[in-house]
Amino acid sequence: MKKNEFAKLGCGAIAQILIPGEQCADTKLEVIEPKTQDAATEKHVPYVEEKADGYLVKVGKDAKHPMLEAHYIQFIEIEVDGDMLYRKYLKPGEEPEAYFRVPKGKNVVAREYCNLHGLWEYK
Ligand SMILES: [Fe+2]
Repeated sequence: MKKNEFAKLGCGAIAQILIPGEQCADTKLEVIEPKTQDAATEKHVPYVEEKADGYLVKVGKDAKHPMLEAHYIQFIEIEVDGDMLYRKYLKPGEEPEAYFRVPKGKNVVAREYCNLHGLWEYK
């Protein structure tokens, strides 16, 4: 497993790898591969706008993802240059976006987790 990779535990909980181990092959985890392309009209791939003092991440670019009790974005996170990780948890009824007022980097990866459709990533 790699740093910041997501995995589903046997109980259904989602975990993120902070520090990879050397014997992960022996561990019972289901790695969650992030999806990167939307096929349907509903948009999940995070869209990153660079601002003067950080990054605005929206889910999706033109049409907003629903934020209903039964279907919503649970969190949005960005990883800057592989060594800074920022996360915003969301609730139903909130906007499906997050503003991260953080130092800029050269390489930004954005991820979001939909309670129905899983993990999505933009690189
Ligand atoms: Fe969804």
